[in-house]
Amino acid sequence: MDEDREGLLMESITSIEHGAITDAEWRALAISITTTARAVPGWFVELGVLKARTTAAILEVLSLINCRPSVLSVDNDSRARKAWEIKTEHRRASIAPPWSLFFSLGFSYDPPFFPNNDKVAWVFADACHCEECVQKDIAQWAPRISLGGVFAFHDASWEQINAGQKVHERYHNDGKVRPYGVAKAIDEAPELEGFRLEAEIPATKRTPPNPPFFGGLKIFRRHE
Ligand SMILES: C[S@@+](CC[C@H](N)C(=O)[O-])C[C@H]1O[C@@H](n2cnc3c(N)ncnc32)[C@H](O)[C@@H]1O
Ligand SMILES: [Zn+2]
Repeated sequence: MDEDREGLLMESITSIEHGAITDAEWRALAISITTTARAVPGWFVELGVLKARTTAAILEVLSLINCRPSVLSVDNDSRARKAWEIKTEHRRASIAPPWSLFFSLGFSYDPPFFPNNDKVAWVFADACHCEECVQKDIAQWAPRISLGGVFAFHDASWEQINAGQKVHERYHNDGKVRPYGVAKAIDEAPELEGFRLEAEIPATKRTPPNPPFFGGLKIFRRHE
């Protein structure tokens, strides 16, 4: 009976409309949300919001499994804040039990108000994909993640680096072209010692004029 319920729940969760990630990536991410929210106390953090479609999907999962952690979304583009305000409005207004949803307009690795001693249960990094920014994301967030907690990275395949893909120029807006560096930053981060790769969804091959690869999700869990 319980297995049936769980199966139906997973069916609803995987069919939730999600953001700029593939269906397979969403399934893996959604599973990481359910397992973590049920077992690990602490904040849920989303780095890189864009149209807030993933924000809405994350909240939908938490809602379905009846967990209400505090959720922080970070993006340095005010258009993302607008999208987040629209997508979260009805949730912020709901009162039983109340949601604690926050948006931080700024760098993904520098949330100015974040309480220093607060623990984090789950982080999804999908902001700037250059090596330096991802290094800073890892340095800022990994040490806060509790035992059993998750650090997930989008666009984390070596294929994107090997294909020479470039980060959106507007993310830094300084005229410099930066290559993708997510996989490299992950492999070299001392802060990820104590984390184990739990799931990996390969990048999707695309046809021109798109960049050659999209996505590639790596989900790490802290085990010590
Ligand atoms: C790939 S999109 C996020 C897509 C979203 N996760 C989804 O699945 O729909 C990247 C977002 O990160 C934001 N961004 C880029 N560099 C950033 C930085 N250094 N700090 C915070 N946000 C950043 C961009 O404004 C953009 O909205
Ligand atoms: Zn960057």
